[in-house]
Amino acid sequence: MATAEKSHDIADISLAEAGQRRIEWADRQMPVLAQIRERFERERPLEDVTMACCLHVTTETANLIRALLAGGADVALCASNPLSTQDDVAAALVDRHGAQVFAINGEDNDTYYAHIAAAVERRPQITMDDGADVVSVLHGERTDLLEGVIGGTEETTTGVIRLRALEAQGKLGYPIVAVNDAKTKHFFDNRYGTGQSTMDGIIRATNVLIAGLRVVVIGYGWCGKGVAMRAKGLGANVIVCEVDPLRGLEALMDGFEVMRGVDAARVGDVFISVTGNRDAINGRMFAVMKSGAIVCNAGHFDVEVNKDELDEITAETFETRPFVEGHRTHDGREIFLLADGRLVNLAAAEGHPAAVMDMSFANQALVSEHMVKHAAELEKRVYPVPEEIDAEIARLKLASRGVDIDELTEAQKQYLASWDQGT
Ligand SMILES: NC(=O)c1ccc[n+]([C@@H]2O[C@H](COP(=O)([O-])OP(=O)(O)OC[C@H]3O[C@@H](n4cnc5c(N)ncnc54)[C@H](O)[C@@H]3O)[C@@H](O)[C@H]2O)c1
Repeated sequence: MATAEKSHDIADISLAEAGQRRIEWADRQMPVLAQIRERFERERPLEDVTMACCLHVTTETANLIRALLAGGADVALCASNPLSTQDDVAAALVDRHGAQVFAINGEDNDTYYAHIAAAVERRPQITMDDGADVVSVLHGERTDLLEGVIGGTEETTTGVIRLRALEAQGKLGYPIVAVNDAKTKHFFDNRYGTGQSTMDGIIRATNVLIAGLRVVVIGYGWCGKGVAMRAKGLGANVIVCEVDPLRGLEALMDGFEVMRGVDAARVGDVFISVTGNRDAINGRMFAVMKSGAIVCNAGHFDVEVNKDELDEITAETFETRPFVEGHRTHDGREIFLLADGRLVNLAAAEGHPAAVMDMSFANQALVSEHMVKHAAELEKRVYPVPEEIDAEIARLKLASRGVDIDELTEAQKQYLASWDQGT
């Protein structure tokens, strides 16, 4: 049977029990999403809405899918990265929750795209992307389905960049909300989530002692700040490379060494790219790296590490540990590439902790509801997350930790709104 005709395509349905237990564990750390799921169960705001979701198939995503299903949606899920799928979670989603899942860990490129095609074949009214892959298919080979789409959401920086490019060319086929740009997303997910899980991925893959190493972080955006902060916390001497002078200055004042990539390459022990850009780690850097250097990427696509240029100087590759590929160079050095240059925090660790994804995915769920409610008013544009959704999620998250904050008094509100008070 062709993939698109199946109701699911996963590795092994017998893994469902193990997957379900892990989904429930994550659920315990996701109180905001749980509250939304309970409300969705009562109100059914997504009744009969077809959704194609292209996300990392992890326990946290499973809890988002549960919320969407509770809201009445008909959900097809495919992977946004071939290495991040957790097969037990895919099994539980199919077996215990009735989702249509098309994702197998380690699937080859053809299967990966066949799975996206299968989700798109469900004629989605709402798309949910992490890297704009569904959007790309709908704006490429399946423009016939664009008309039926009410709207979409985008989870990550790289996807938003692609969407803005489509919008700028007047080619965006339906409204999309940039969930990535919500404050309750990137302040926490990109910074604390990527920060912790990237270091976790490096440590799990290599078991190196980070203390005392020179860790080079390339890109000092939201993710880079988190990675640099956590690497420093583990005792590394952190070097930051940037192309934006403001971000470079910020890194300097945050207490890090800042230098050009090629200079950092000579002294670094571990290299982590988080730029959203190609060739952040490149041939000029590989040429001067010390033997033993460890190279990885936490940006969305593996193009951040120019693997072709690494291959050009490689005499032979050799296996060391899972996710650690050794490259012996023609001049006798050894460079170790983690997770084939793909997201190291998802491939070699478990991605973001659930407590962080709680807020990102609460945004996804509430924005889907918003899209259905406001479908008639929305234009073919990239929209920010409505401020009230952001504020509501932050409020719920604080409440879930038992934290109360102060409210402005009337006098304070007046003071902040005036121009003639204050001296
Ligand atoms: N690993 C994860 O789980 C995860 C989570 C969220 C986002 N991401 C991805 O991480 C990447 C970065 O996201 P962000 O939110 O930090 O983006 P951002 O735009 O805030 O930061 C990117 C930074 O990289 C810098 N940069 C660009 N090209 C560079 C180059 N060649 N050399 C040095 N610096 C360069 C930019 O100036 C910018 O400061 C994106 O691809 C995003 O999709 C990954």
